[in-house]
Amino acid sequence: MTNYFRRHLGAKLLLSYLVIIVVGVTVLILASQFVLPAAFNRHMNGMMGGGMGMAMGNQGLDNSGQMAQLYVDFRASFKIVAVVLSLYLSRSVIAPVHAMSLATERIADGRYDERVQVQGADELAQLASRFNQMAEKLDQTESMRRRLIGDVSHELRTPLTAIKGSMEGLMDGILPATNETYQQIHVEADRLNRLVDDLQELSRVEARAYELDLRPLDVSSIIRTVTKRLTPQFQMKRISLDLELASDFPRVFADEDRTVQVLTNLTGNALQYTPEGGRITISAKRLHSEVQISVRDTGIGIPSEHLSHIFDRFYRVDKSRSRHAGGGSGIGLTIARALVEAHGGRIWAESAGTEQGSIFTFTLPIAK
Ligand SMILES: Nc1ncnc2c1ncn2[C@@H]1O[C@H](COP(=O)(O)OP(=O)(O)OP(=O)(O)O)[C@@H](O)[C@H]1O
Ligand SMILES: [Mg+2]
Repeated sequence: MTNYFRRHLGAKLLLSYLVIIVVGVTVLILASQFVLPAAFNRHMNGMMGGGMGMAMGNQGLDNSGQMAQLYVDFRASFKIVAVVLSLYLSRSVIAPVHAMSLATERIADGRYDERVQVQGADELAQLASRFNQMAEKLDQTESMRRRLIGDVSHELRTPLTAIKGSMEGLMDGILPATNETYQQIHVEADRLNRLVDDLQELSRVEARAYELDLRPLDVSSIIRTVTKRLTPQFQMKRISLDLELASDFPRVFADEDRTVQVLTNLTGNALQYTPEGGRITISAKRLHSEVQISVRDTGIGIPSEHLSHIFDRFYRVDKSRSRHAGGGSGIGLTIARALVEAHGGRIWAESAGTEQGSIFTFTLPIAK
């Protein structure tokens, strides 16, 4: 019962009205007990002091005077008690609302660390805790935005500095005007170009600014599309490809282009992070109501402490290596994860450690 009142603002308000009524009635009883005898005494004294006749004549008037006084006394004391009680009760309702209003103002001013105190368990307390959740989300989004701007500036600065340095070297005659120098500049400019393209794609994907054309798809035909596209890279690095697919495989419910994009990303990474002569295996299997598609390689592997970060934006296990090896910007897996999650699937990585190869797996729902 007490719990019910603690958790419902309406019940609390009802209770407070009841309390005021009870107090009113109590005041009335007390007033009639204390004021009435006094009035009666005053009345009797008046009768003794004045002449009998006069008293008889004044009695009706005096009596109604006493009653009026009693009524005035009752009203005054009732008002005081009611005002004090209402003030106390409305403060308990208004104080949290007021606190939230102040906090909203501060959040609007950009102070995202603002929180309100949650007291009790009623609707106002629930509102306060939701308010805090919202403030927490805003805080996270804001720090993500700041980090993103910092990261992007950092990523842009690296190729820009390289291009500027090479140009200055050329102008000062320190760098020879050879094909190699121009090629270096071109590589950096190309890197810049790719980075901007990737960022554009990432923001499109993360903002869900694209349509998913979901339909039943044949997984093996998707795998074929991807491997056909990447054949030159497989040949160039003399990496062999294995496919592990069951013949009576269910179709998945997914967007063809996006699925191809995810698998191209994972296979592209496997090619990039596997030394010449290695092996890449693409497999698919059914598990309950979903299909798991895996890309396994015999490459450089991923140390366990990096596994949980590689899907983060701009995250690279070995920054210098990927940068100089014409490596990417660490956005590919972030895009892949956003695309897989948009399909309602999951994506994860496994690796036994450095030089132990890696397995990247994503899931897609089976078409009904
Ligand atoms: N198959 C793999 N084997 C080993 N490490 C990998 C593999 N795939 C990804 N990684 C690690 O995860 C990091 C992030 O991969 P991601 O694809 O997001 O970025 P990237 O390949 O560096 O650049 P890009 O944005 O061009 O794809 C890589 O830098 C690499 O360190
Ligand atoms: Mg990549």
